[in-house]
Amino acid sequence: MKIISTEKSQVLASNLARMLEVGIATKEFRRFPDGEIYIKAGSLDDETIIVGSVVDSDSLVELLILIDACEGSEITLVIPYMGYARQDRKFNKGEPISARAVAKALSRGVARVFTINIHEESVLEHFDVPAENLSLAPEIGEYIRSLNLEKPLILSPDAGASAFAADVAATGGWDADYLQKTRLSGTEVRIAPKNLDASGRGVVIVDDIIATGGTQATASSMLLEQGATAVYAACVHGIFASGAYARLSGAGLAGIASSDTIESAASRISAAAIIAEAIRR
Ligand code: R5P
Repeated sequence: MKIISTEKSQVLASNLARMLEVGIATKEFRRFPDGEIYIKAGSLDDETIIVGSVVDSDSLVELLILIDACEGSEITLVIPYMGYARQDRKFNKGEPISARAVAKALSRGVARVFTINIHEESVLEHFDVPAENLSLAPEIGEYIRSLNLEKPLILSPDAGASAFAADVAATGGWDADYLQKTRLSGTEVRIAPKNLDASGRGVVIVDDIIATGGTQATASSMLLEQGATAVYAACVHGIFASGAYARLSGAGLAGIASSDTIESAASRISAAAIIAEAIRR
């Protein structure tokens, strides 16, 4: 068995290879003069684990042609972050179900798929092969434990994500709640935990994705005003679009952490162990 990865998932793939004690297959990557991607896989074994996050359109194309390049080997496809998964239904007439289109395309030639905290588990049904979603909630919990917070309070940005916050909180037996937005006037909103008081507590806002970081930035300032001793943000997939990391830092967050499903300087949590465990199973 060998592991091969797309350009943007090299660190996670290397850590996974170390954990599974399997080799990494080399890969040539370059671009044609017109910008198209060229890849060439090195020698493979009978079984191959491909690790590739879909973080943008180029990484999707690279992943598609990498699967094709590994033809002849039994492929386990790990998609740590599956972009396009948020367009999982037709919100307006004429729109695609992008998650379905991507899942179908990525199913061709692979034996099984693993995703990590995919935005909606129902997207898994669009793969034409067995697909399993893994959760990084316990690893995020361990990261929170390492912060040694005063009376930790784990918050999700909205009611919809409260199950994820509860899973994270279960790691340490901490309290969990969700943030509720109340409109005070045409221009003013108040964001506060629905049921608990943040005063005197170390708060962590957890989410599957930080994209623009808009909610976390506003919530962080308000939670500090409400007496939280420190506010942290932790997520699985740190997209940090349009200067989100800087915006969050400026909002007084004591720390911002994401995982290596999208590799960046904020990747303080690794998905390698849960992927290794699932593959061993
Ligand atoms: C939304 O459904 C997701 O779970 C995240 O809450 C969302 O993508 C975060 O977006 P942003 O960082 O732009 O607030």
